[in-house]
Amino acid sequence: EIQPVIMAGGSGTRLWPLSRAGYPKQFLILAGNTSLFQQAAQRLAALGDAQLQVAAPLVVGNEEHRFLVLEQLREIKAEPSAVLLEPCGRNTAPAVTLAALQAVRAGQDPVLVITPADQTVIDAEAFTLAMRQAAHRAADGDIVILGITPDRPETGYGYIRCEGEQVAAFVEKPDLATAQRYLSEGGYSWNAGMFVLRASRWLAALKDFRPDILAATEAAFANAQQDQRFVRPDAKLFAAVPAESVDYAVMERCPGSAHALVMVPLAAGWNDLGAWEAVWQVGPQDSDGNVQRGDALLANCRNTLVHANSRLVAAVGLNDVMVVEMPDAVLVIDRKRSQEVKTIVEKLQASG
Ligand code: GDD
Ligand code: MG
Repeated sequence: EIQPVIMAGGSGTRLWPLSRAGYPKQFLILAGNTSLFQQAAQRLAALGDAQLQVAAPLVVGNEEHRFLVLEQLREIKAEPSAVLLEPCGRNTAPAVTLAALQAVRAGQDPVLVITPADQTVIDAEAFTLAMRQAAHRAADGDIVILGITPDRPETGYGYIRCEGEQVAAFVEKPDLATAQRYLSEGGYSWNAGMFVLRASRWLAALKDFRPDILAATEAAFANAQQDQRFVRPDAKLFAAVPAESVDYAVMERCPGSAHALVMVPLAAGWNDLGAWEAVWQVGPQDSDGNVQRGDALLANCRNTLVHANSRLVAAVGLNDVMVVEMPDAVLVIDRKRSQEVKTIVEKLQASG
């Protein structure tokens, strides 16, 4: 059986001012007609085949977003098998561990298909085929990651080097010089941020690499409160779990260990909507490369994004600029510097 797991507890700060703590990007409509979270749930629901049944998803998210999660699933006529609610974010390794502990509770050991909630995929068919292949491999015991062919030295991703289908090296978020070297050497893939493995395999790997994270998460889960679909780990114990991502805690350490990684290529028009630049890329762009959302009026602009939310936004003669208008804040930024929105958000947080 396949148990989809959606990691939906990120804060999405680089998409400020649209993405906010109370309403982060995975719940926003940034491409298409449904939110990124809804798209993730719909992609996962389509994975079943003759041999593999797909269970209702496990969602791991923040306590603050519990009604968003339920409401958005209801809108697409889906129901979660459980929503694991974190009182605070401890990054993805504890989140996945909560899902794995929930999945093995009834004595089962399903194949977890773990995906982020902040991505777009254009070719649904190619996605389904690659993920089914990954699920069949994982059923046989492998840890499977999905690889994307890189087209730029992006530093926000993990990089994978394969020998055949075996992963020889996994490097999370290299610096720019290293990423540039990987691209010119060739033979590297990006990590799509999706992991397919049996729940018991995750728990065993974490036990070998980060027994501290496993023990602390187990303690918080053992004292969880269950309220219908909501599962709430003990708040105090969960706050004490070391914060670490799946990539640093486990994936980087797997190659050459008893927990080998296998990579399945994913050629499906994958995009991680991490920052405004990526939203512009996904478009749709007009013939001048402009992307408009909402009440926007553009003249003689090129490669410009205008996202108007509450009033008319007019732009003249802009090149490579992005404008995001909200009732209480307007962002105007050089398209090539969209990662730096993070520094603005940090300044705002520092000034309270
Ligand atoms: N439940 C929960 N709790 N979810 C979380 C938390 C948390 O504390 N932190 C992040 N998430 C969710 C996010 O909402 C997102 O859907 C997913 O987990 C991945 O987290 P990101 O913070 O977006 O990770 P990243 O983009 O920096 O890096 C990962 O994804 C890249 C591809 O998009 C890594 O796996 C990289 O190696 C990978 O290339
Ligand atoms: Mg991401």
